[in-house]
Amino acid sequence: MVGAAGGSLMLELQTQVSLQALNSFGFNSVAERYIELTQPAQLPALIDYCQEQVLPCLILGGGSNLVLSARVPGVVARVRLRGIEVVSRSQQTVRVRVAAGESWHETVSWLLDQGFYGLENLALIPGTVGASPVQNIGAYGVELKDRVTAVHVYDTLQSQFTQLTPSECQFSYRDSLFKSVDPGRYIITAVEFELFLNSDHLVLNYQALQETCATIAGSQVVTPRHLFDAVCQLRRSKLPDPVRLGNAGSFFKNPHVSAAKFQALKQTFSNLVAYPEGEGYKLAAGWLIEACGWKGKHFEQVGVYDRQSLVLVNHGGGDRIQIESLAVQIQDSVYNAFGVRLEPEPRYYP
Ligand code: FAD
Ligand code: EPU
Repeated sequence: MVGAAGGSLMLELQTQVSLQALNSFGFNSVAERYIELTQPAQLPALIDYCQEQVLPCLILGGGSNLVLSARVPGVVARVRLRGIEVVSRSQQTVRVRVAAGESWHETVSWLLDQGFYGLENLALIPGTVGASPVQNIGAYGVELKDRVTAVHVYDTLQSQFTQLTPSECQFSYRDSLFKSVDPGRYIITAVEFELFLNSDHLVLNYQALQETCATIAGSQVVTPRHLFDAVCQLRRSKLPDPVRLGNAGSFFKNPHVSAAKFQALKQTFSNLVAYPEGEGYKLAAGWLIEACGWKGKHFEQVGVYDRQSLVLVNHGGGDRIQIESLAVQIQDSVYNAFGVRLEPEPRYYP
């Protein structure tokens, strides 16, 4: 442990810390310096220290959307801010503020227990609440942006705590201000949501979700609890548990193509899976990858999951170099077959 003076606060930085248990790929990565953030007051001191020492700083949540190198230079700051509070309540809705270090899934589950509904479709997504706005997490017809009312941040450029409105966050599919517009500038300290106090707002657009809910509910009217259970059941049937098999969920975004490109592809590949989206179509990247023959394939110690081709996995002992190499091979083969370039979803660091 080393003490570093950052502003007026002493920062307790550890050195040479293994991140293997802190990234969902389970890569054997080591942080040069590491600190746990348990109070917002540490942030100005940490950022001053990094700026003075000219060190890069990785803000780490649950490590479930990161591809880490063997050595991570500078400082890794793991967000462990805790707490959930009700901010206001009306007859129909409730506003809650959740600290960035809370587990996403445990928060969804706790809110459901309180009778605060609206996040059930996002159950079982790994990671922290603080990372949820970064790529505007989404699943089964709901995105974070549909429920967020404010994002509390520390602005490292202006050296001040502030809050951003949803429109300032520039949310879009798997993207936001925090991910691609101004990456690294804001450290998220808490997120505010508006949730429903009645169960009239269930989102059941996905056919598979509707069917699973109906099976779970039986003769009863479908409740938020049934929806939550159905989402968990569906996800467990498709996605590997990172505790058993290292992965970062979908490795690529589903690509958006024009209507003309979709029609041209559909003529050649009649069973292509795609969904209308805006003026064009979103293609199922998992279908494209499977069609290129990658499903279940191994490459050194990494590979493509045998139940979902969009998920790349670490079979044990794999690393960033192997995953990156596999990802490039997949991108090239999908491009050669369909003329569509897949974009990775997780962040490579550094
Ligand atoms: P990390 O991986 O720690 O960080 C991700 C990025 O956010 C990094 O750039 C990091 O610097 C930044 N960051 C983290 N915390 C903060 C903060 N407080 N302030 C500023 N920046 C921060 N995603 C979906 O959208 N939908 C899914 O259905 C889904 N399913 C998944 C299933 C599995 C099995 C896995 C492994 C992943 C899945 N993901 C999914 C991806 C991942 O869970 C989400 O992106 C999640 O929000 C990442 O949270 P994290 O805390 O692990 O972030
Ligand atoms: N498909 C195949 N082969 C495969 C995988 C998928 O043909 O190997 C086809 C199937 O037709 C399937 C369709 O693709 O019906 C869609 O697959 P799935 O329902 O599993 O969803 P997805 O589009 O692959 C997206 C998100 C997931 C999210 C689910 C549920 C992206 C990049 N991924 O996956 O998010 O949980 O929908 O909404 O948008 C993540 O971001 O990490 C993630 C897991």
